Amino acid sequence: MEKTRTFTLPKLPYDYNALAPYISEEQLKLHHDKHHQKYVNDANALFANIDEATKTDTQIDYWIKFGYVKALTKELTFNIGGHMLHTIFWENMAQAGKGGGGQPGGAIADTINKEFGSFNNFKKLFSAAATSTEGSGWAVLAMHPCIERPVIMQIEKHNINIIPNFQILLAIDVWEHAYYVDYKNERPKFVDAFWNIVNWDKANKTLDLVK
Ligand SMILES: [Fe+2]
Repeated sequence: MEKTRTFTLPKLPYDYNALAPYISEEQLKLHHDKHHQKYVNDANALFANIDEATKTDTQIDYWIKFGYVKALTKELTFNIGGHMLHTIFWENMAQAGKGGGGQPGGAIADTINKEFGSFNNFKKLFSAAATSTEGSGWAVLAMHPCIERPVIMQIEKHNINIIPNFQILLAIDVWEHAYYVDYKNERPKFVDAFWNIVNWDKANKTLDLVK
């Protein structure tokens, strides 16, 4: 992968209408092109500020004096978190019946069954985490090689209640901007629909990284 000092909005790995009717073209386009793009833009703007400020001692002293360092680091985790989580989210979905939905297979199925007893139990727990995230946030399934068990995290915003360094295997965005066009205020309906477009193959590939 070519490395750069700024972020770029990734292209979706499918067409804008590929996830319909579970996520409509209008909803997906808005979410990807506007909301995800804004996190990318805002993270890059913060980088530009840092690059500018670190050119001079005076500017750094000014920032420290007026408390900008705290605000800037917080904004940076929010926007980079938003960019990273959305990138995972797009990749862990696929068109229903064409890589999306159905029962998990392979190692991710074994991991889920071992930890949660059955796929159905996991589905219930993960859905409960997703529907009960306060305000805007995410539910994710994550794992780290230091422990042989996956954990469900309920991330608030993009950067709160997240366990550092855990690899995210599966993520659902439950910010209102993720489902409002299609489901209005009915988040549980969106969470139900999500299971029809989960890309289990991708979850298996990511699990390989932490096995
Ligand atoms: Fe989002």
